[in-house]
Amino acid sequence: SSNIRVTPHPSFDVLAATTAARLITRLLDVQSERGEATVVLTGGSVGIATLAAVAASPARLAVDWGKVNFWFGDDRFVETGSPDRNLRQASEALLDHIPVDPARVHAMAASDTAADVDEAAALYVAELAAAAAAEWENDDASPAQAPAVPRFDVLLLGLGPDAHIASLFPEMAGIRTKGTPAVGVRNSPKPPPERVSLTLEAINSAQEIWIVAAGADKAAAVGLGLAGASEVQVPASGARGVNKTLWLLDEAAAAKVPGAL
Ligand code: 6PG
Repeated sequence: SSNIRVTPHPSFDVLAATTAARLITRLLDVQSERGEATVVLTGGSVGIATLAAVAASPARLAVDWGKVNFWFGDDRFVETGSPDRNLRQASEALLDHIPVDPARVHAMAASDTAADVDEAAALYVAELAAAAAAEWENDDASPAQAPAVPRFDVLLLGLGPDAHIASLFPEMAGIRTKGTPAVGVRNSPKPPPERVSLTLEAINSAQEIWIVAAGADKAAAVGLGLAGASEVQVPASGARGVNKTLWLLDEAAAAKVPGAL
């Protein structure tokens, strides 16, 4: 439908560089309108290469990074220092190289800072709610209940070979977990076994969702995700709050998408 767009790029590097440029522009546009901007980061090779491309771009200097709020779509429930942590990979690629406001970097708890994944998820739910309430007071005096999550101006998602997004795996029943924006995940089919993940409810609330995927091994997953055939469906266009879903792919991942090339 009209607000799902599939954009192929000639190579992995061009995909990362272009997504970085797109992200910088998106943050600038939102900041000029609202004074601050919010991005939800993803792990995975494309997501992290995108952050490294931002760090390498002179255009990054135009962004007021102290007014950017960073959240994560998921993180692995491992030790803080583990190389498996998305926060660590994002920090090494970008966050350590720009003047972020540490209070605006919202990381999911690690296995050395929370008792278990359920506590880690509960902590994140509380952090999301606090940010949403603060934003709600600023933005809207309506007595309505503030939403469970703040406004996500852009939410990045890597795509697993099985079409999983964040740490929401197709074979895990009940993954939608209606009524909560973040969950603890155990027995993930992809190691490490324990993670904290946003749910579809939180993902669907984003203003824009950008799914980034590269490689021929992702072509089938892209097809699954686009067709919504997987248990964990990438939000159909028009889902509450989602104004635009971009599939940013390299040519190998776009190969099977009719009309994409
Ligand atoms: C995981 C995966 C996930 C990653 C996707 C996409 O552990 O759940 O590693 O974090 O985002 O698998 O990975 P690529 O961007 O490398 O294709």
